[in-house]
Amino acid sequence: MGQPVPARRASRRTGGVALALVGLAAFTIAQLGLRLWVRSKPRPIPYGWAWLLENPWRRRYRDPVRLAGACGLRSSDHVLEVGCGSGLFTPALAGRCAHLTALDIEARYLAQTAARTAGLPNVTLLHGDLLALPILAASMDAAVLISVLTEVPAPVEALRECVRVLRPGGRIMVGEEFFGPEYVLPRTVDNWAGAAGLRCIGKQGNGWAYLHIYEVI
Ligand SMILES: C[S@@+](CC[C@H](N)C(=O)[O-])C[C@H]1O[C@@H](n2cnc3c(N)ncnc32)[C@H](O)[C@@H]1O
Repeated sequence: MGQPVPARRASRRTGGVALALVGLAAFTIAQLGLRLWVRSKPRPIPYGWAWLLENPWRRRYRDPVRLAGACGLRSSDHVLEVGCGSGLFTPALAGRCAHLTALDIEARYLAQTAARTAGLPNVTLLHGDLLALPILAASMDAAVLISVLTEVPAPVEALRECVRVLRPGGRIMVGEEFFGPEYVLPRTVDNWAGAAGLRCIGKQGNGWAYLHIYEVI
């Protein structure tokens, strides 16, 4: 004789819950491991992961037009977008300033941004490293860094390098999001900015996806 049907159903449900818990634990451990590994040696996102930057779910909390608006750029600004990646934010940022220089260390990302900004007369593309910007001192009004600062091994030096290329009173916008494995808490970015001689003048978003605006002191 077999087991009564309700008992079999209950045991199947228990097995399903146990499997879900094991899956959740494995995911959490894998996430923790990935994040610790990435933070132990920050590096640029591999080109093969470009699809992560473009996924529609990300646009729900990082809508390019909203983000560009939140940066508070002025129509007369000359802006440097550092780590433009696939150019998700480049056209929207370019629409809010006089001129935008989009820079990345990975030439294949720049090619994607070039395709995306073809026909925009106020965009220049530049191949270079945030830690040694190929840009004249005091030539920019603002620098925008979305999900890039945490990819460099020396974030304070990176911010100082941005300060070097800014005019007096220049601003730096730093955005980070929990979705990225290199994520750091908002207060960590504030500490880096303070060490680089910047003062926070605006905060938007939340711990999941934030945007801080700093001014050169
Ligand atoms: C996570 S992606 C973000 C791209 C884009 N800002 C976005 O949010 O969709 C980081 C980008 O920064 C670039 N990057 C990383 N380290 C860099 C460095 N030292 N100098 C310039 N670009 C860098 C990477 O190549 C990559 O395109």
